[in-house]
Amino acid sequence: MIDPVTVDKIFEAADIVSVVSDYVSLKRKGANYWGNCPFHEEKTPSFSVSPAKNIYKCFGCGKGGNSVNFIMGVENLSYYEALLFLAKKYHIEVKEKELSDEEVQQQNEKESLMSLTEWAQKHFTENLQSPEGQSVGMSYLAHRGFREDIIKKFQLGYALDKRDEYTIAAQKAGYKLDYLEKTGLTIVKENNYMIDRFHGRVIFPIHSISGRVVAFGGRAIKKDEVAKYQNSPESDIYHKSYVLYGLYFAKSAITKKKKCYIVEGYADVISMVQAGIENIVAPCGTALTTQQIQQLRRILPSADAERSDDKNVTLLYDGDGAGMHAALKNGKMLLEEGLNVKVVVLPEPEDPDSFAQNHDSSEVARYLEENEQDYVVFKINHYLKEAQKDPMKMSQLIEDVASTIEVIPDEVKRSVYISMAAKMLNTEERILCSRVNQINQKKVDEAAGPSRADVISKVQSVDVPPTEEPAPVHVDSMVEKLERELLCYIVRFGDHPVEVVNPETGGKDTIPVVEYIKDDLEVDDLSFQNPLYQGMMMDYYERYKQDKISSSQFFIRNTNPDYVSVAADAMSDPYPLSKIFNENETNCRIKVKKVSVDAAVTLFHDLNYSLLNYKSHWLSNLIVEKTEKLRNNQEEAGTLIAQIQELMLFKKEIDKRLGERHIHP
Ligand code: CTP
Ligand code: MN
Repeated sequence: MIDPVTVDKIFEAADIVSVVSDYVSLKRKGANYWGNCPFHEEKTPSFSVSPAKNIYKCFGCGKGGNSVNFIMGVENLSYYEALLFLAKKYHIEVKEKELSDEEVQQQNEKESLMSLTEWAQKHFTENLQSPEGQSVGMSYLAHRGFREDIIKKFQLGYALDKRDEYTIAAQKAGYKLDYLEKTGLTIVKENNYMIDRFHGRVIFPIHSISGRVVAFGGRAIKKDEVAKYQNSPESDIYHKSYVLYGLYFAKSAITKKKKCYIVEGYADVISMVQAGIENIVAPCGTALTTQQIQQLRRILPSADAERSDDKNVTLLYDGDGAGMHAALKNGKMLLEEGLNVKVVVLPEPEDPDSFAQNHDSSEVARYLEENEQDYVVFKINHYLKEAQKDPMKMSQLIEDVASTIEVIPDEVKRSVYISMAAKMLNTEERILCSRVNQINQKKVDEAAGPSRADVISKVQSVDVPPTEEPAPVHVDSMVEKLERELLCYIVRFGDHPVEVVNPETGGKDTIPVVEYIKDDLEVDDLSFQNPLYQGMMMDYYERYKQDKISSSQFFIRNTNPDYVSVAADAMSDPYPLSKIFNENETNCRIKVKKVSVDAAVTLFHDLNYSLLNYKSHWLSNLIVEKTEKLRNNQEEAGTLIAQIQELMLFKKEIDKRLGERHIHP
């Protein structure tokens, strides 16, 4: 670990304009500098550097951060390596710091957990050099055809086949048992009997988007092992549904190629990268989730969600039943997030890993190119043959295709697909089109919340068996957007004072914006669905209590690169807050703490509007969820109706207040 004073020195020296200038030719325009973005290909500059805020931000691909993030991106380094890189460049002597027991405890918990997982990664990698590591681990990896440079790149390792070798070594290195347990690396049984989760397995470290090791997958070597793969459990630093395996290594290739391949397993990613396909990721032993897709979408170029011609994703799966099923299911989720979706099916019995191992890189590239088909076309073709024999199946297929096309956010794309699908299905375009619109209308109505008559009529028809599986719970993009908006207040104005009435004394208290938002969410038992945002809010709140650090200082200099890039984004967004407030923004920035009364009032007004909007949306989701439940659940109908009505009343109240506040159109 680098000593904090040294880190500060590095940040002081590494002025953003000078750091970026080594890679990008910059021209001054007004307060900022502009150039062509090094992270994606472009002809007109959309990459801006703000010397005042000490950040960069590309309005083309959405990348942003401080000097350290910039170096991490262009040089493909970890946070730690990027600091060392800058220290060297600016001739700053680096003081590494040994942690005392006390300091280890003082570090915040997540940092400690990550320091442990990073230590564990090094430990597992070093194990490969031991005699057992060579004869068992390394020989397994070699047998699978993984090259040495690729083993290094993905930081693969080996956990020795002894029950508690890792646990003992980690404790010796000063890590508390509590953390060993919290990261899931050690399983503690009764009577403090401790087991290394991964012993006797080959280790695949899982990296966060910024390159820090947050979890592991362990592949059994012995044939008789019950589970082929063991994975780290959820923890404060690892949320499976948000992480994509390989994304850190694939980032820059994805942005450059404007395309990402998705496969199912660790080995698939590694062998494909070895065969030269670098823009490739996999979920970590789970089904693909909306959150993962959203992470991916942010990396694909084009900040404008409506312009999706640059956002390409190709599903690359085995030709067996499971592979086809996954492709059919995941394709729709990807379409829904506004991506262009293609599918490549491999010849049976190959999976991407074996295919890449059995062919040379030019064959792999050619196969991918020649066998890529549009997802909707793939889906229709998959069912068409069966459907043509049976009118019932045919009408089901038309229904299915209509509901698939309906999820596409872009209207033009939707209409292109409608006319193409109508031809393939040999049906009238008009019919398909009206079906798509009906499905869409139904969704809109449901999102608005059911009317009372609707609720009653649904109860009366509860004996109809459910036709679909219940919808998976996922963060929908509206909630994500509103959470981001609230986070913008925290990043930009987290330390701004707001006045609140003290419920006990009736007098006025002054609290910072961050506390106001946190309290306001807690009152209604809410927290951000995005754990990164939730972490940012709570960490800043805790830190503010200690030393009143300003929010921009806290976030832009943060050691967590994910915080920095979200913060840079929030600080450069042209329109996160209301127009009125933006006009006053310069005003309150200059006066720092002495915000003019008007600006403070506007901030308070806008913030409350955003909070209400967020809650209103939450309630809509909850109402839809309960209504859905009602449809499948007769016994609890009475309770559910009462709950739904209460929620609707609550929402009405909030919407009324929103209406009163909604003064900017
Ligand atoms: N997986 C898992 N637990 C299992 C089996 C699979 O977590 N018991 C996850 C792993 O991430 C794995 C992916 O699902 O990479 C795909 O599984 P599978 O196709 O069975 O494994 P392969 O990737 O082909 O693994 P290998 O080539 O090592 O046999
Ligand atoms: Mn395999």
